Amino acid sequence: MKQGLHNNATAGDINISVLVSGGGSNLQSIIDGIADGRIRGARVSLVISSKEGAYALKRAERVGASTAVVSRDEYPDADARASRLAELLSGAETDMVVLAGYMHVVPPGVVSAYSGRIINIHPSLIPKHCGMGYYGRRVHESVLAAGDSESGATVHYVDEGVDTGAIIVQERVPVEPGDTPDTLAARVLDTEHVIIVKAVAMVADALRER
Ligand code: GRF
Repeated sequence: MKQGLHNNATAGDINISVLVSGGGSNLQSIIDGIADGRIRGARVSLVISSKEGAYALKRAERVGASTAVVSRDEYPDADARASRLAELLSGAETDMVVLAGYMHVVPPGVVSAYSGRIINIHPSLIPKHCGMGYYGRRVHESVLAAGDSESGATVHYVDEGVDTGAIIVQERVPVEPGDTPDTLAARVLDTEHVIIVKAVAMVADALRER
């Protein structure tokens, strides 16, 4: 793990660890939300990517967050992967975990260790078009195939299921005539960037009140 300098960190701030797999636009929204004050009393302490070289890691380094990669290549054994994740999260004194474009199921041991303070963003109106196998483009293909007139994004608590935890924030977007999975994905992603900040702020505030 690369140790990051926690810029403008204040004692008592909530340490947020973010799990990513790709570009990190949701991570960037969280970073921006902290910088502009929509998220208060929190810092992104650690970013763990499941993919080597994910651009999300660059976004993390830019703000001095620590970074690490826990990939299936490096950790093919599920138990070893789970204990590495747990070791990194506790090493960063994690108060809250955010799955932001993380394309894997979180090991049960990690879910239970952070129960009530681990959240995920999903690009549909849960409970529609979610669950095992519904991620990224597949979600939007499913919405279009179903002929839905609207879609949206959801931030929810992570529990032992897949996309089944209590909903924190949800926002709708229209499905437009002629939408392709890509045009719908782009519209939903804009909404993700809004609700991820709202949800992180709500949960961070609640955790600070504890
Ligand atoms: C996007 O498909 C988003 O809908 C989902 O994860 C993917 C990548 O997000 N939540 P990000 O840009 O890496 O945050």
